[in-house]
Amino acid sequence: MTEPSRPELAAVTPAMMMQIRRIERYCFAPYLYRTNRYFARRRIRGVFLAAFLDGRLAGYIACAFHPSYMSVSDLAVSVDFRRRGVASTLLGEVLKRKHLRGRRNIRLMVDPSHADAVALYEKFGFRAGKVRLAYYAFGDGMMMTKRIDEEGWSGANL
Ligand SMILES: CC(C)(COP(=O)(O)OP(=O)(O)OC[C@H]1O[C@@H](n2cnc3c(N)ncnc32)[C@H](O)[C@@H]1OP(=O)(O)O)[C@@H](O)C(=O)NCCC(=O)NCCS
Repeated sequence: MTEPSRPELAAVTPAMMMQIRRIERYCFAPYLYRTNRYFARRRIRGVFLAAFLDGRLAGYIACAFHPSYMSVSDLAVSVDFRRRGVASTLLGEVLKRKHLRGRRNIRLMVDPSHADAVALYEKFGFRAGKVRLAYYAFGDGMMMTKRIDEEGWSGANL
């Protein structure tokens, strides 16, 4: 029996943006974050990574650096590659010490109706916080936060 292939990560380049937009459109239309455009133009300081599986761009993550915390602005995986650990690999990477560098927490806003995303973040030790009504043009947004302690440096609480 062959081992399932593992996602490989790479920094996003302009040549990858068309595939990223395709995944974004599928996952978030009619609402589009568009933040990844700013990451691609390096107008936001942070980390912007793509994951490849079976030679195809399977998903991406964009995180912004703030003085005391890091925020996950965008995380999405192509429907063809779901439940194969792509998001976990991306999230595990950004939770490494080299990206967090002294920041005390990592936070994000998620549409609470996206049960898959909420389950993923809970698995990684994020806690649900306040819900902001009509945060998105098409729904509410829920804040989720993970405190970074010594345990957190190594990545997920798995
Ligand atoms: C949420 C999302 C990024 C997960 O990507 P993925 O690569 O399939 O996730 P993984 O394979 O790494 O799954 C890790 C864990 O997340 C949870 N999870 C993922 N998809 C799930 C689903 N459909 N139902 C329940 N739990 C789910 C599980 O705990 C899973 O662990 P398990 O497979 O051992 O049970 C993907 O479904 C997606 O792109 N959704 C739409 C976009 C979105 O909502 N992004 C978040 C914006 S903040």
